[in-house]
Amino acid sequence: MRPPTRFAFPCTHAAPPGYITPDRETGIGKLTDGEIARTLRYGVSHDGRALLPFMPFANLSDEDLTAIVSFLRSGAPIRNAVPKQELTLLGRALLALLIRPRGPDGPPPAVSPSGPTIERGKYLANHVANCLMCHTRVNDLGKTIRPSFAGGNVFEEEKGTFVTPNLTPDRDTGRITAWTEDAFVLRFRSGVGPEGSPMPWKSFGNIREDDARALYRYLRTLPPVHNPIDPPKKEVVAAQ
Ligand code: HEC
Repeated sequence: MRPPTRFAFPCTHAAPPGYITPDRETGIGKLTDGEIARTLRYGVSHDGRALLPFMPFANLSDEDLTAIVSFLRSGAPIRNAVPKQELTLLGRALLALLIRPRGPDGPPPAVSPSGPTIERGKYLANHVANCLMCHTRVNDLGKTIRPSFAGGNVFEEEKGTFVTPNLTPDRDTGRITAWTEDAFVLRFRSGVGPEGSPMPWKSFGNIREDDARALYRYLRTLPPVHNPIDPPKKEVVAAQ
């Protein structure tokens, strides 16, 4: 991979407090751009450990990866010592036996696809906005165990249990099959979802109109999968 070069993030906002900050002791202040980029692209920490759970950003374009690193450096440093992650027994076993950090599927693009295109929608849904991982049943290794985007992931949240809907254009069980493109764009840009939902509706409310159109156009191209999402059963899924 080409190490991203530093450049000023072309944006007037600095990273707000509460993000990963450039504090030198407890934040990313001492890490090089290359180390941060490697974490995002290969899921390994700066000292070479595999990170669990996998972050789904391995296939970000060089352009977006560089922008993220620059953005993270732009905020005020905040001192906040976070306890080291404790892995469960299963987590430790997986780490010891199975986990090999996973890199990009192929050479990542230098520049991201642009415009309200299927290609950009595919890039956003799979590699940037994490629609794929939430709207697909996955096992503990982040491996897909149901057809992609067919929904059925169960989230136990404080406010209740949420199950992700099927986003494929199946006539009977696809949530958005009957939605027009404009309805989808409005839904996203409203920024409002059910209270306590794990879907980051508020952040997605800032999506550019073109990007919302790109997402819709891409989701329309998926093979329809019949997947009624009921009842929301929580299964223990063994590593496959
Ligand atoms: C962190 C997990 C998560 C992520 C990331 C996520 N979703 Fe969701 N999504 C959910 C859950 C849970 C629901 C059901 C509860 C709700 O409506 O918020 C949902 C609901 C939806 C709905 C139905 C809304 C409605 O009004 O019926 C659509 C459409 C949707 N998601 C599309 C997407 C797309 C497109 C992306 C990527 C840009 C995405 N989601 C990313 C978890 C997620």
